[in-house]
Amino acid sequence: MTQLDTDWLPLAELYQIPEQGCLFILVNDDLLLVGREGENVHCFEAKCPHLGYSLELGQVNGDSITCPFHKYRFSLKDGHCRNAICDNLTRYEVKIENQHAFVKFNR
Ligand code: FES
Repeated sequence: MTQLDTDWLPLAELYQIPEQGCLFILVNDDLLLVGREGENVHCFEAKCPHLGYSLELGQVNGDSITCPFHKYRFSLKDGHCRNAICDNLTRYEVKIENQHAFVKFNR
């Protein structure tokens, strides 16, 4: 028996996701952080894994975002903490269909 695709929720059209910087998208009352490299879309929980504060006011520089609270930096490509002093961003699976990005998200 196959599971229905109800866990895949629409994120955005590819052209709406910037290649420099990121996009914040509200999905099921959770704020997600979305970045893109060409056809590869990366999606993370928009909460800092240090103390759980929102990254919405974080500063984006190239392919990383800096948390506004204690200045830890995270990769927008893989979510790794560039300071290597706390956990990485929580990452969600993404698929592209017909130039539209979907995230596997079931909360
Ligand atoms: S809450 Fe983000 S670095 Fe501390």
